[in-house]
Amino acid sequence: MRLTRYAAILAVVAGAVLATGSILAADGVIAKRQADMKAMGKEMGGIKDTLAAKGDLAKVQAHAEAIRKILAEVPALFPAGSDTGPTDALPAIWSDQAGFDSAVERADGLADALGTAAGTGEIAAATAAFAALGKNGCGGCHQSYRKPQG
Ligand code: HEC
Repeated sequence: MRLTRYAAILAVVAGAVLATGSILAADGVIAKRQADMKAMGKEMGGIKDTLAAKGDLAKVQAHAEAIRKILAEVPALFPAGSDTGPTDALPAIWSDQAGFDSAVERADGLADALGTAAGTGEIAAATAAFAALGKNGCGGCHQSYRKPQG
């Protein structure tokens, strides 16, 4: 009798510990993806400044590559269970994973195209590719999968 009760209490405690653990893990992955997103924002800022200054387009290529590296990690930073907590991620990420994955791919393709455009050395082409990445790559995903920013 007593043993069964202890076992039951232990099971409850173990469950609580596990639940707390996964909440902490979710907060960690949320912080990580937000930091990665901010880092992509910085890269975009660097591109904008370089283009505005009609600067070295090799820098734009490097920023575009850095964005692609981060994008490659994005799908893994939205694991199941990380939909609650201090996050602006929308539930559609998990209910429409194929759509989310293709939004990552679209952004990656546009970052790749920006690198190529910058490689031609033409500011106008790079500027157009940069605008497309911002609008359809970053913005395209945010529109469907991130809470509207107030
Ligand atoms: C495939 C979808 C997707 C793509 C592509 C994407 N983002 Fe995000 N972004 C998100 C989601 C979802 C969030 C909310 C994350 C959270 O709060 O957990 C977010 C949040 C952010 C944030 C706020 C981070 C914070 O501090 O809370 C910034 C800045 C950002 N993204 C910039 C960018 C830039 C710049 C690009 C393009 C180079 C980009 N994102 C591409 C989905 C995307």
